[in-house]
Amino acid sequence: MHYPETGRLAPVAEQSLLIKNVRPYGEDTVDVFVENGEITQIGANLDVTADREIDGQGQVLLPGLVDIHVHLREPGREDTETLATGSAAAAKGGFTAVFTMANTIPVMDQPTIAESVWLKSQALGLCDVHPVGSITKGLEGTEITEFGMMARSAAKVRMFSDDGKCVDNPMIMRRAIEYAKGQDVLLAQHCEDLRLTDNAPAHEGETAARLGLRGWPRAAEESIVARDSLLTRDYGTRMHICHLSTVGSVELVKWAKSQGIPITAEVTPHHLVLTDALLESYDGVYRVNPPLREDHDTVALRQALLDGIIDCVATDHAPHGSEEKCVEFEHARPGMLGLETSLAVIADTFVRTGQADWRWVAKVMSERPAEIVRLPGHGRPIAVGEPANLTLVAEDTTWIARGVDMDSKAENTPYEGTEFHTKVTTTILRGHITCAEGKAAAPRAV
Ligand code: DOR
Ligand code: ZN
Repeated sequence: MHYPETGRLAPVAEQSLLIKNVRPYGEDTVDVFVENGEITQIGANLDVTADREIDGQGQVLLPGLVDIHVHLREPGREDTETLATGSAAAAKGGFTAVFTMANTIPVMDQPTIAESVWLKSQALGLCDVHPVGSITKGLEGTEITEFGMMARSAAKVRMFSDDGKCVDNPMIMRRAIEYAKGQDVLLAQHCEDLRLTDNAPAHEGETAARLGLRGWPRAAEESIVARDSLLTRDYGTRMHICHLSTVGSVELVKWAKSQGIPITAEVTPHHLVLTDALLESYDGVYRVNPPLREDHDTVALRQALLDGIIDCVATDHAPHGSEEKCVEFEHARPGMLGLETSLAVIADTFVRTGQADWRWVAKVMSERPAEIVRLPGHGRPIAVGEPANLTLVAEDTTWIARGVDMDSKAENTPYEGTEFHTKVTTTILRGHITCAEGKAAAPRAV
């Protein structure tokens, strides 16, 4: 990690900003003029004077990225991540808005906790950090929280999830779906039947059998995807499925959508490109929940994302300290960092290989996630009159991921030593530069 005093640029709060020679969505080169946080002109060789200029030199300009699934650990585990370090990691990764999960200590099950996260992150000014409320009090799966009070609080909580844990009891989930429908909020489910996984650390398959690790079967995820799709059909308006990891889950989501059931789904970068073959090292950094699966799962997940069966990418950025990761595989805490590598993973996997273009990246990493949570002001088109939430990306560059170089407080990246060829250089939040030349700006307040 970087300490706040080092390696950071001063926060920049100019009134006007000229972004020169950039290619919106990787297309024709233009200049983009931003005044008071809004895009006011787009065109070739704009003749304007700005408080600050950025020369994009042919870089790709995207709408600011939106991640609807991160864990920033504040309150409670500030030893592994804080709103300040997590916001810096988000800015460095190109994100202008993130949704931080409710499995904090205390759990985000009350308006006051959600409000403190929202207001503090707004004071920091590096990223819009939206708190996710828990579905059940204390994540205990028994008593539903006050969705309405959290939704109407200053934090305007719009998504509820017990992520990290599954809402296991189908009657509780049914009631939560009915309540969410009345309040017009989104539920996001972590699909895991604990009676089938029993806290197993690895995907149930040949690798786990050979390594002597207990297995987490695909059916533990798929049975809940199926159950909650049916509950949504009968009682709900909309439901989001977190971190899809199996080929069977893809089939079920495809079926549910074909029936007109209003579910959406996300996939993490790590489930798209990493497999359980990495467990051979017994390195706890590769323990994640749901676990890394097999090659044919990753192939199906990538195709489903390309086809729109899976709606969006979400990182499930899950910082853990070395004392939680550098232990026997069975005892390692599940979770991986994601914010600072996700754009590179997605662009290197899909754009550099010619399977997708930058319009598609904008869709799966900004527009769709903002639509799913109905977040105004983010995931908007790059157009005059729109808020200047923007991300600049350099193509054909080379960098190597290193945990120690990350702005996250933790270092548990599964990409340690990996060479990437796409890099976020600049992030702009309502006209303010939150990351410049690949470095996050200092927060306004800590
Ligand atoms: O790997 C995971 N880590 N999956 C989750 O669902 C929770 C997360 C965490 O909080 O560390
Ligand atoms: Zn999570």
